[in-house]
Amino acid sequence: MKRTIIAFIICFALGSLMCSKAPKTDSEWITLIDETLDFAVSQLGKSIEIVQDSTAFPRNVDKGEWYTTNAYGWTSGFFPGCLWYSYEVTQDDYFKKQAERWTDGLIEQQFNDGTHDTGFMVFCSYGNGYRLTKNPAYKSIILQTAETLVSRFNPNVGCIKSWDWMNPDDFPVIIDNMMNLELLFWASKNGGKKEWYDIAVKHADTTIKNHLREDGSCPHVIKYDSNTGEVLEKITQQGAADNSAWSRGQAWGVYGYTMTYRETGEFRFLEAAKSMADFFITHLPNDNVPYWDFYAPNIPKEPKDASAAAIAASGILELSQLCEDPELSQKYLDAAKQILQNLASNAYLTKKSGKHSVLDHCVGSKPGDSEVDIPIIYADYYFIESLFRLKAILNDTSGS
Ligand code: GLY
Repeated sequence: MKRTIIAFIICFALGSLMCSKAPKTDSEWITLIDETLDFAVSQLGKSIEIVQDSTAFPRNVDKGEWYTTNAYGWTSGFFPGCLWYSYEVTQDDYFKKQAERWTDGLIEQQFNDGTHDTGFMVFCSYGNGYRLTKNPAYKSIILQTAETLVSRFNPNVGCIKSWDWMNPDDFPVIIDNMMNLELLFWASKNGGKKEWYDIAVKHADTTIKNHLREDGSCPHVIKYDSNTGEVLEKITQQGAADNSAWSRGQAWGVYGYTMTYRETGEFRFLEAAKSMADFFITHLPNDNVPYWDFYAPNIPKEPKDASAAAIAASGILELSQLCEDPELSQKYLDAAKQILQNLASNAYLTKKSGKHSVLDHCVGSKPGDSEVDIPIIYADYYFIESLFRLKAILNDTSGS
């Protein structure tokens, strides 16, 4: 009896902690978004002062302060991307200068043909920079990056190669790679080649055919035969098992297919996005932030991955605006809001931790015992992006 009462009190306290600020009206939502963006900008301002060196790119906060990588780390574009968003929030030239500084540090990436991740690295930095400043130099860097990125496309496979570090005969493609198509779509319609669009569509189609499972989940990695395009293996690198559903991979797929539908208008991509989003939403635990893998072996004693939640929320928000059926649109909007409401609570914000990221509780690679239950920069980037997206939707629907 005593235990039941204690459990009840704990649940009640946790429940109030999570729900006390649950916004109900659009105006309450906008207040929450603005307060959260202010917090994010203040954290980014502190991070600039702490890191200072614009050739060092914040990646995670494990022990103490930001751990940084050089420009070649796959996460290097997210910090400059966050700084561009800070400039957008504040319109303060200080943030513009800092965003330019860190973006400039990535200039060589336009020629980096050793990775598919230049989509993340260059589009989050130069892409946001161009969106906000129309600096023509940024545009030509994005176009050159597209040219470099398509050198990794293999027509036998119908995909862009993800990693070079496996056996040289292997042709691995990871679901994450869907994200890097956005740079190709953008470059193609902004002065680039039609071929870049075709390559992006081919990659997305091959990925639907081989990655997408019937239940809307997907494996992390597919190894192809580079000569015949035959699927050799469906495996995982960062998930719990080859046949599990790695949460961030699922989120990359939701976002990637939604973006591909936006860029092409082809319904097969909308169907893929919906199917991946439905799997994500229906497998969420009570607080709407997934464990690092939907089939992690020791749920509920497994770490959450706030980065998967943030990426998926951003993708699902866009999906909600692309669905013509109003009920479906509302379903996705509500799902994304539920995720964001929890991320914007003290359970996930770093407010009380003294860390200088925005979000905490992400997982890089649980099987690799790397970056487990810590802040990681891409969670911040997609969280900030999703707050922007939600605010735009709310402003649009309330007519302001
Ligand atoms: N693209 C690598 C990751 O999501 O960890």
